[in-house]
Amino acid sequence: MWFLGGHFSLALAVWHALLVLGLGSGSSALSCYSRIFSFGDSLTDTGNYVRLTAKNPSPYGAPPYGTTFFGRPTGRASDGRLVIDFIAQELGLANVTAIRTSTAPADFEHGANFAIISATANNGSFFAGKGMDITPFSLDTQMIWFRAHMQQLAQQNTGTNVLADALVALGEIGGNDYNFAFSSGMPRERVRAFVPAVVEKLAAAVEELIGMGARAFMVPGNLPFGCAPLYLRRFRSARAGDYDARTGCLAWFNRFAEYHNRVLTARLGALRLRHPDVTIVYADWYGAMMSIFQAPERLGTYESQTLYCPVAATRQCRAVDLGAPYATTHPRMAHGTGRTQQRQCTR
Ligand SMILES: *[C@@H]1O[C@H](CO)[C@@H](O)[C@H](O)[C@H]1NC(C)=O
Ligand SMILES: *[C@@H]1O[C@H](CO)[C@@H](O)[C@H](O)[C@H]1NC(C)=O
Repeated sequence: MWFLGGHFSLALAVWHALLVLGLGSGSSALSCYSRIFSFGDSLTDTGNYVRLTAKNPSPYGAPPYGTTFFGRPTGRASDGRLVIDFIAQELGLANVTAIRTSTAPADFEHGANFAIISATANNGSFFAGKGMDITPFSLDTQMIWFRAHMQQLAQQNTGTNVLADALVALGEIGGNDYNFAFSSGMPRERVRAFVPAVVEKLAAAVEELIGMGARAFMVPGNLPFGCAPLYLRRFRSARAGDYDARTGCLAWFNRFAEYHNRVLTARLGALRLRHPDVTIVYADWYGAMMSIFQAPERLGTYESQTLYCPVAATRQCRAVDLGAPYATTHPRMAHGTGRTQQRQCTR
């Protein structure tokens, strides 16, 4: 449940984010960024979590993760590349190094990735106050790593502000604050009350980074997680009205994500007013994902296959025919070959 992000195909979301940044057509605008500093969760972690859990192996350090694209597990919660990989590529930068995977200064010439699987926007004290003991990693953790990294660079450097020509990719982060709470069975309205605190955590990070010299931000919104297989299973409903008739997704959870995104975009608007010299771009990953769920056939042959491996299980995965469990909720979920499969993992 921590790792919801890994269940989505993000190819379109990437394109959308890049288009929003004005990077999709021509690349003259790209060269104005010399590096990327990235913060986030499983959607953008390129190796930190696996490195920090090296003594207690996580499934992301073993096949099938990484097998198809990289030829080996890289610590990404995906077999392929992540949004941040595509953004780095579009910007013409070398792959942004995950902060816990190297200590060599040369590896951080093009920025650093602080994102870590399971991370929340709020910190452990916030969740402890709600009786929840979840991940040790939050945006605060990543900011601590970031400040230490800046100090190291300052010691090595000749006074250039590495933030002035950097793109800060702040998120997606915050989705796990909700995932943990929903999976713990917390009443929906109580989880909804987290939204302002999540958005304030993001805003505080933007303010601090601006204070340190950052001038360009990309801040993604939440995804339509009412379409995520985990949610479709766990919150399965017999009432047709609980589903969006167009997509077969759980409508309440998608409205929740839309609410988060409204609060976030309003807050980013206020930050822009306070800092007119700073570029703050909202990346509409929600809209990008919805365009997939609304018309999957536009992407070509579509097999209704969920790429979900239970976290508790690891090692070998095989496709298991589940007899189209989503077809009973909406025909869209069985589009294409008809049978729904799930990757099942065995030890
Ligand atoms: C980034 O990583 C990918 C996969 O390992 C590799 O194909 C690509 O050449 C790398 N790009 C740079 C600029 O290092
Ligand atoms: C946790 O977050 C709260 C709210 O932002 C903040 O006041 C507190 O200092 C943070 N605690 C730690 C240990 O970072």
